[in-house]
Amino acid sequence: MTHSPLLRSDETLFRDPEVFELTYLPDHLHHRDAQTRELAFLIRPALRGASVGSAVLRGPPGTGKTTTVRRIFREVREATKRVVPVYVNCRHDRTALAVYRSIFAQVCGCPAPSAGRYLDEIKQGIATRLHDENAALVVCLDDADELIPAGTYNTLLYQLLRLYEKWDVRKAGVFAVTSDLALNLYAEADPSVRSVFHPAEVTFWPYTKTEVREILADRVRQGLYPRVISKVLLDRIATIAAAEQDIRVGIDLLRGAVIRAEKDGRRRVGPEDVTAAARAITTPSLLNRAAELSAGERELACWIAERSRDGGDMASGAVFEAAQDYQGRTASHEHLNALAKAGIVDLAPGIGRGRAIRLRYDPEDIFAVCNARTKPAKTRT
Ligand SMILES: Nc1ncnc2c1ncn2[C@@H]1O[C@H](COP(=O)(O)OP(=O)(O)OP(=O)(O)O)[C@@H](O)[C@H]1O
Ligand SMILES: [Mg+2]
Repeated sequence: MTHSPLLRSDETLFRDPEVFELTYLPDHLHHRDAQTRELAFLIRPALRGASVGSAVLRGPPGTGKTTTVRRIFREVREATKRVVPVYVNCRHDRTALAVYRSIFAQVCGCPAPSAGRYLDEIKQGIATRLHDENAALVVCLDDADELIPAGTYNTLLYQLLRLYEKWDVRKAGVFAVTSDLALNLYAEADPSVRSVFHPAEVTFWPYTKTEVREILADRVRQGLYPRVISKVLLDRIATIAAAEQDIRVGIDLLRGAVIRAEKDGRRRVGPEDVTAAARAITTPSLLNRAAELSAGERELACWIAERSRDGGDMASGAVFEAAQDYQGRTASHEHLNALAKAGIVDLAPGIGRGRAIRLRYDPEDIFAVCNARTKPAKTRT
């Protein structure tokens, strides 16, 4: 431990700060049993000398796709030499050469020789090793949609899935991952690829609030000293992360709030720490969501935010009635729907006067962002 008073860390609230790193691989992966089982089912035949099946993994950001693959690959590596799992991050490696170099390094356990300038030499090295070990290859192309604009998606799939045609190896499996829900990675494949690519569809839905809470509670148990954060505040963080549909928001918020309390020399996180951390994390997402709003939609958002802050009736009927003096009933109706579509408010079933309007963000933040005229609003009113 350092003797520098500036760098002393013995006052920390973190039992294990690594638990809050995004690269951290959790011991237990909650709520991903079905997806883990499906992937294991595709890998299992390779243990008996057959080939690995392929899959397309789809789900919005922060739904555990990468973590699920990394965990199952780790388990495979520990359990058998008959399957060689290879993980490729296509955000970093998009060219055929970069992808093959990454595969070579993981299959052969050393970097591809710099003399291996030609792809065929690298492929040959990979195939020789697989043949010698009588091992089946499974490649995870994480964020595989990045390969499409790079022009390498079809070539790579074709070559990987047909490796067995050129070399004496078993047919490889490919796990293609995307967070772009509008994209169908199977449909993006050429007919020549599709004839050997029959992927199982594995879907990763956003976690519910209860699921987010459980995942975060696990991190708190492992990463923080007891009683650093209360159940109420953890619940508040889970609500924010679930609304953002990204578990990363929850992990970042937790860390941000604890760091703030620690800096202040407090032993427990207070509500103000969560508010401040939430502002830093959610404001960019609110800015994004508000960017597309028209002037009228922004105006209604500001007005609703003020009403909520002042404790006014948030039933949609009451809001329309009060808003009609300056927006007109039909216009406010349309604007409210636009705010819900943009993810700024939720319209929950209400009793009596229409639906209950719930703000997804702090009213002050909505007011500040929607009132700002820094970004010109669209002409639609
Ligand atoms: N079920 C879970 N249990 C514990 N931690 C989880 C779980 N799901 C996700 N996480 C954590 O959330 C973070 C994001 O997960 P991950 O990177 O796997 O998401 P992703 O779906 O691959 O997102 P993206 O599409 O943005 O790449 C990671 O830090 C991971 O450890
Ligand atoms: Mg990922």
